[in-house]
Amino acid sequence: MDTLGRVKQIALDAGKLLLDMEKDKQVFSKESRDDRHDIVTSVDLAVEKFICEKLRDDFPNYQAFTEETDFSDVTSEYFWAIDPIDGTKNFAAGIPFVGISIGLMHECVPILGVILNPYTNELYYAESGRGAFRNSERLHVSDAEKLSDAMIVIEGKNILAKRREYPGRFSADARTIRNFGAATLNLAFLAEGRVQAYIDEDLKYYDIAAGTVILQEAGGRITNVRNESIFPREPGFEDIDVVASNGLIHDLLIEYISQG
Ligand code: 2AM
Ligand code: CA
Repeated sequence: MDTLGRVKQIALDAGKLLLDMEKDKQVFSKESRDDRHDIVTSVDLAVEKFICEKLRDDFPNYQAFTEETDFSDVTSEYFWAIDPIDGTKNFAAGIPFVGISIGLMHECVPILGVILNPYTNELYYAESGRGAFRNSERLHVSDAEKLSDAMIVIEGKNILAKRREYPGRFSADARTIRNFGAATLNLAFLAEGRVQAYIDEDLKYYDIAAGTVILQEAGGRITNVRNESIFPREPGFEDIDVVASNGLIHDLLIEYISQG
């Protein structure tokens, strides 16, 4: 099986493990890297271990940069960026909106991405230059050109903490704003045209690695709030601000955000 085929299968098997373990999950509060009341569950840890072991069996030379195991010394040319459960707070609350996300990085640029919503069996995947898909269907971003046609996902405690004013302006001018609680699926929704933009000011590396290649292959654009490329980027745990869109409304989003 090729690399993408293997990673898709590992994500699907990880999804089964998540569903099997869900009923008996234990929730722990996590030593936070910032002030965000972080939690982790027994299932995050088990799913991460499962994915890392399977990937190590098949790709022994690739290191893994993951959310739950502090590997800060990733030096291999190719490495995985893994979030075993994105949307842990949703998962802990029983809200079926979570993503299992596996990205493959080459020289710190995402080149392959797989995201699974285990509750809906929606499997999103892409490889650089080969298009993005949900199950076997080719994905394209929305062709909306006006904010009044745009559903904009805005997440991020930092946005509230910084008292940014742009959510209010978007609320007035966009079709509507949303906050779903799982970065990976927000990017997937954007890739398939369900939403037109996604803004967040505190994401982590493994939240966006897989989603970036899926979105770009679906014709979308992802930058930081200054409209600069996010990758190539060394793996790390610092916050990353993200403006992602169908491309057509990107400059407008940046303009709104730059006004504070
Ligand atoms: P997580 O569930 O893997 O932690 C919630 O708005 C989104 O922000 C989720 O995708 C969540 O991913 C992500 N996020 C990134 N860093 C976070 C943090 N330190 N605490 C809570 N959510 C975080
Ligand atoms: Ca996570």
